[in-house]
Amino acid sequence: MAVFLSAVVLSLCLLSSHASLLIKYGSTTVKENSFLPLHMTDRAPTIDIQGYDDLRGLHPSYFSVVMFTWLDMIGFQFYESYITYWVANIPAGSFGPGKGKVVLPYMSPLATNKFLQFSAQNNSYSFALVPQGSNLVGPILDNRRSPALAKTLQHYNCTGDFIEIIDFTTSTSQS
Ligand SMILES: *[C@@H]1O[C@H](CO)[C@@H](O)[C@H](O)[C@H]1NC(C)=O
Ligand SMILES: *[C@@H]1O[C@H](CO)[C@@H](O)[C@H](O)[C@H]1NC(C)=O
Repeated sequence: MAVFLSAVVLSLCLLSSHASLLIKYGSTTVKENSFLPLHMTDRAPTIDIQGYDDLRGLHPSYFSVVMFTWLDMIGFQFYESYITYWVANIPAGSFGPGKGKVVLPYMSPLATNKFLQFSAQNNSYSFALVPQGSNLVGPILDNRRSPALAKTLQHYNCTGDFIEIIDFTTSTSQS
């Protein structure tokens, strides 16, 4: 369900480009719409950017990679999200292992599931690659909840555009 929602909501603002994300938990690459056992996501993944394109003249100085999960629908258009990891200041034009700065520490799906008390058996998480205009110094976010993710990102020197989204599902318990 959450995978479906994020695809619908975010496809509206996806930009085409040749930049792409490579997210790995250990040696496991997170593939779009894949399922990962919960224990595999205990530690923060590595983030690489595989390339960079002009992005239709946006000329970002940096990229941010934001991991989040969807909460509830608010009204008919906005879906509240919960940000579980944010790596900012990844220099645009860089290739390979991300050189960014962690501005919001990793909160594992296990910890997130417990904190938010998800009742479903499975829950989805997303990684978004977002152009960032200028340096993000912070401090940021004393609350990981974001009623409108694009607006939150814009508040922190990112554009509200999502260049790429990678969604995965994990279980809410180890069993
Ligand atoms: C959770 O995901 C696993 C792996 O894809 C699947 O086998 C299982 O049926 C899912 N459970 C529910 C309740 O959707
Ligand atoms: C956004 O960028 C401006 C200009 O570089 C900087 O002064 C400001 O502190 C940044 N905002 C945040 C939240 O880091």
